[in-house]
Amino acid sequence: MPRSDLLQADRPLTIALSKGRILDDTLPLLESAGLMPDEDLNKTRKLMVDGTGGVRFLLIRAADVATYVEHGAADMGIVGRDLLLEHRPHVLQPLDLHIGCCRLCVAGPRELVEKGAPKPGSRIRVATKYDYLTERYYLSQGVHADIIHLYGSMELAPLVGMADRIVDLVETGSTLKANNLIEETTLYDISSRLVINPASMATRKSQIQPILDTLTAAVNQTEGQV
Ligand code: PRP
Repeated sequence: MPRSDLLQADRPLTIALSKGRILDDTLPLLESAGLMPDEDLNKTRKLMVDGTGGVRFLLIRAADVATYVEHGAADMGIVGRDLLLEHRPHVLQPLDLHIGCCRLCVAGPRELVEKGAPKPGSRIRVATKYDYLTERYYLSQGVHADIIHLYGSMELAPLVGMADRIVDLVETGSTLKANNLIEETTLYDISSRLVINPASMATRKSQIQPILDTLTAAVNQTEGQV
């Protein structure tokens, strides 16, 4: 995006979303705030889609959403707490949307996990895409973790003897079970968060605040029904 577009005060309010599991939960929330894409976001190959309410949507990878918001290329976005904890972007996080709920766990082969957590002073190999959080956790345990960075399908690494543990998201637990792995400990409860660029919040408050208020009410109402 040309830099001039970032600075244009009259560009449409821009919302960064990612395709995948949480999009189906995200769209009804946005609709409650009068924000509906002109096209089916699950089907379109476009990366930028106009919507009602004078907004436009960017469709990007989950791991990139906070980057677009941090740089002001998007005014707001929806992103998992796991990615916010791992990458620590400079964005406002005013609202837990209570969707995409899961947990970030340490898991491993049953026979290893049942022997107990690694002792302080020991060294293990851990496969993950959460390098920072994993290193920090094991440092806090006094354990040296050799991090093996993977981009997905972490569960395979212990099966082929490449890692002793994984640190990954667990939702239903069925992926762990199918691969003979068990949870050792939960590091964080995860859900999706609304994130906002701080400068956008200051300069476009009249546009953003009503959306934030409506989303907050919609989330509270949904939570009240649970
Ligand atoms: C996520 C996560 C686990 C799985 C957990 O992977 O990384 O592999 O879902 O879900 P479950 O507990 O309900 O089985 P995803 O499908 O998003 O793909 P990825 O491996 O490419 O990250």
